[in-house]
Amino acid sequence: MKDISLLKGKIHYVGVNDRSTHLFEGMWPIPYGVSYNSYLIDDDKVALVDTVEIGFFEVFIQKIKAVLGNKPIDYLIVNHMEPDHSSSIALIKQYYPDVTIVGNAKTFGMIDGFYALQSNRLVVKEGDTLDLGHHKLSFYMAPMVHWPEVMVTYDATEQVLFSADAFGTFGTVDGGPIDTQINLDKYWDEMIRYYSNIVGKYGSPVQKALQKLGTLPIQMICSTHGPVWTDNINKVVGIYDRLSRYDADKGVVIIYGSMYGHTEQLAEQIARKLTACGVKNVVMHNVSKSHPSYILADIFKYNGLIIGSPTYNTQLYPEIEAILSKIQMRDIKGRFLGWFGSFSWAGKAVKLLGEFAEQSHFTLVGNPVEMKQGMIADVTAQCEALAEAMAKAIDE
Ligand code: FEO
Repeated sequence: MKDISLLKGKIHYVGVNDRSTHLFEGMWPIPYGVSYNSYLIDDDKVALVDTVEIGFFEVFIQKIKAVLGNKPIDYLIVNHMEPDHSSSIALIKQYYPDVTIVGNAKTFGMIDGFYALQSNRLVVKEGDTLDLGHHKLSFYMAPMVHWPEVMVTYDATEQVLFSADAFGTFGTVDGGPIDTQINLDKYWDEMIRYYSNIVGKYGSPVQKALQKLGTLPIQMICSTHGPVWTDNINKVVGIYDRLSRYDADKGVVIIYGSMYGHTEQLAEQIARKLTACGVKNVVMHNVSKSHPSYILADIFKYNGLIIGSPTYNTQLYPEIEAILSKIQMRDIKGRFLGWFGSFSWAGKAVKLLGEFAEQSHFTLVGNPVEMKQGMIADVTAQCEALAEAMAKAIDE
C-alpha cells in the first residue's frame, strides 16, 4: 500500500485530527473539526516541524515512532508557539532528551514562559540555514501572522514551505493529507472562517509575509491546519492575499438583534429593497441565533454591512454590542456601513451605533433609520432610502 504520509523527499506527515473539540480557542465552532499538523523530516539529521495539541500526544508519538523506529530526533523546529502546536514540546523533550529546539529569540522567550524548559537551543534569525543532508532548510520571520514569534521554514531542496498557521483552514484531513488526494469542498468556506476568526486583525503583517515569500519557488505548502497544498497553491495564496487586503465581493450583510420582531421588520424591509436594487448577495444574521464566527466570515466576504439594534436598558442590545467588539477587534477596512434601530421609550441604540460607525474604518452610508415602538409610523421610505444608498455605494 502506498504510504500517503510520505509527502515529498523525506518529509512525512505526522499530524493529528481533532473531531472532539466543539470550540476552537474556546470560541469558534468547528463542525468539521480541525487538524494539528506536524511534519517529520527523516533525513541524515532528523527534524520535526512543530508539534500538536497535547491531548493528541499519544497518537502523535505513535506516528513519529512508525517513521523513525528507535532513531532519535535531532531538531524540533518551532515555527509557532500557540499551544495548539507547542503544547507537546515538553513531552517530545522527554522522549528525545537530546533534541535541539530551533526557534528565534521570541520563540525561546515563550518557551521559557509557557514551559520553563531546559534544552539544547539553536536560535535562528532571518535567512539562517540548517542542512539536514538532502533537505536544506532556511528560516524566515513572519511576525504577527498572527503571533509575534511566528516564523516559517523553507526547504530549498524540495521547494516546500512549512508555513505555520498561514494558509491553514478549519476541517480535519480525512484520509488525506495532500490536496490532490481528497475532496476539498468543505475547506474553502472554512478557510475564510478560520482566517476571519483567528488571523483577521493582522492583514498588514500577512501582506508583508506574502510579499516576502512570493519570491520563493514553492511546490508544496505544509501549514499547521488543514490539507497540504500542492495543486491548489495559487488558489490558497489568492484567498489569503484577498482576505488580508480586506478585499470583498459585492454584497450586504445585515446583522440585527430583535426581541419581539420589530427591529427585524426593519431588517426585512432593507433586505427586500436591496434585492429590488439588484443586490444578489444579501446575508441576514439574527445575532441571537447566528454564531459570531459565521457573521465575521460573512463580513470578510462582502463589502456592505448594515447593523440594527433595539435599545436595551438604554444601551445597545447586548448581543449586538458583543459582535461590534469582535468587528472592531479585527480592524476591518474597506466596508460600507449603514445602521438602524428601535426603541420603546428612550432611543439610544442608533446613537451608539453611530458612535461605533464614527470610530470604524468604514465608509458611512445613507441615513440611519430609527423606529419608536412598532411599525405604526411608516418608516418604509427611510429603510428603502438606506438600502438604495447601500446598493449604490457597494456598486461603485
Ligand atoms: Fe494554530 Fe495560531 O495556532
